[in-house]
Amino acid sequence: MGEPPTFYWRHRASFSDIWSGYYTDEEPESMWVVEESGEVLGYLAGCVDTQRAPGDEKAILRAMLRHGLLFRPGTAGFFWHSFRDVLRSGLPGGELDDPRWPSHLHIDLLPPARGRGAGKRLMEAWFSQLREQGSPGCHLGTIGENHAAIRFFEALGFRRHGEPSLVPGMRTPEGGRHHAQRMVADL
Ligand SMILES: CC(C)(COP(=O)(O)OP(=O)(O)OC[C@H]1O[C@@H](n2cnc3c(N)ncnc32)[C@H](O)[C@@H]1OP(=O)(O)O)[C@@H](O)C(=O)NCCC(=O)NCCS
Repeated sequence: MGEPPTFYWRHRASFSDIWSGYYTDEEPESMWVVEESGEVLGYLAGCVDTQRAPGDEKAILRAMLRHGLLFRPGTAGFFWHSFRDVLRSGLPGGELDDPRWPSHLHIDLLPPARGRGAGKRLMEAWFSQLREQGSPGCHLGTIGENHAAIRFFEALGFRRHGEPSLVPGMRTPEGGRHHAQRMVADL
């Protein structure tokens, strides 16, 4: 949602491992940044072929074992909520595996960089990279409650794909639930 995750996840190394490790370490040629006066204010982390990346669930599981996240005060709550959510609502859908949209991305800008066209420029750079590499389409996962991001993605040519599904473990600061929304764009 664009806020620091510290209200539900207080362990920086594992958070980075899960959400940016693959992109920085395995596919840096698909990583784009917004830079101003030598400072990085945002990024687009892309993946041309999703089958190459481990997927969110596998990355979370790997970090959980590596960093002992089940028993850390800053992360344990997330995992115990997750187990309860999965028992009640079942496992989430997993990565989208569809040859029409084999590529995917994550995008985040710090507050001072938002609303100034930087996100649009990152997306345009990513789309031209994908066209050059012959990808037919791109997908992404966002939070269904993140209306600003959904309007941004729609303005850039994405459309919703499928129904939103509960994100296990995730809570708003007030204890509410979040839902994952898939979106796709043809190139
Ligand atoms: C979502 C995000 C990447 C958008 O980047 P941005 O630089 O703020 O967006 P831009 O200024 O490039 O906007 C491009 C277009 O998107 C649309 N748009 C962007 N924000 C919008 C909003 N809040 N409401 C409606 N439309 C919006 C507009 O059509 C805009 O074009 P315009 O300026 O010509 O009207 C950025 O705001 C962000 O990082 N937010 C917090 C983190 C987040 O939500 N990330 C997505 C996780 S999946």
